[in-house]
Amino acid sequence: MPTVQACLFDLDGVIVDTAKYHYLAWRQLANQLGFDLTLEQNELLKGISRMESLEIVLGIGGVKLSEEEKLKYAAEKNAQYLEFCKQITPDDALPGVRDFLDELKEGAIKTGLGSASKNAKTILTNLDMLTYFDTIVDGNRATIGKPDPQVFLMGAQDLGVAPEHCVVFEDAVAGIQAAKAGGMIGVGIGQASVLTEADYVMPGFDGVTVKDLFDKLK
Ligand code: G6P
Ligand code: MG
Repeated sequence: MPTVQACLFDLDGVIVDTAKYHYLAWRQLANQLGFDLTLEQNELLKGISRMESLEIVLGIGGVKLSEEEKLKYAAEKNAQYLEFCKQITPDDALPGVRDFLDELKEGAIKTGLGSASKNAKTILTNLDMLTYFDTIVDGNRATIGKPDPQVFLMGAQDLGVAPEHCVVFEDAVAGIQAAKAGGMIGVGIGQASVLTEADYVMPGFDGVTVKDLFDKLK
């Protein structure tokens, strides 16, 4: 494996569990439109942009809307989501992730955030983690969603690191596909049975040291 010079992190499901809030907000919208959304269906929305997620939700309910109505409902969902996110505090960073980022800093390895979320900076501010990243590529900058590698390639370029020297941490299948399509090393956060295309899968960062992980990637 080439030496690791940068680590790029997805936000939702890797740094913080916001999937539960996305789910509650999408479910509320679905209920309003007369159908329900299961947790299993919510899996389809992980890593997928807001407007694409709305299309999937509407498809599940068999609901057709005008473009204007879609924008209105997406804005409503987002307002509800942000309301839930107000309760996020620094304690909500997923176990071990802050220590892992500290260790990367000590080892002079660059760090970036690569997220489809347009709310990434708000969430990082609530976590008091905005300064942990040398660059942030969020849904306001990236124009093409995962599994396209754009979001991670922009991050690598910002950091001045070639893709093969980047490790991407991702909980979504589409995110791992984006990392691999960009020529990066993809570390899955979750289950190996789900994240089958990842180079390595771990349940989270709890108890994981940078050295141990990099040794495993060799
Ligand atoms: C992340 C989440 C998705 C979410 C997307 C857009 O990728 O995993 O579930 O739809 O961000 O988030 P936003 O905060 O912009 O609605
Ligand atoms: Mg994610």
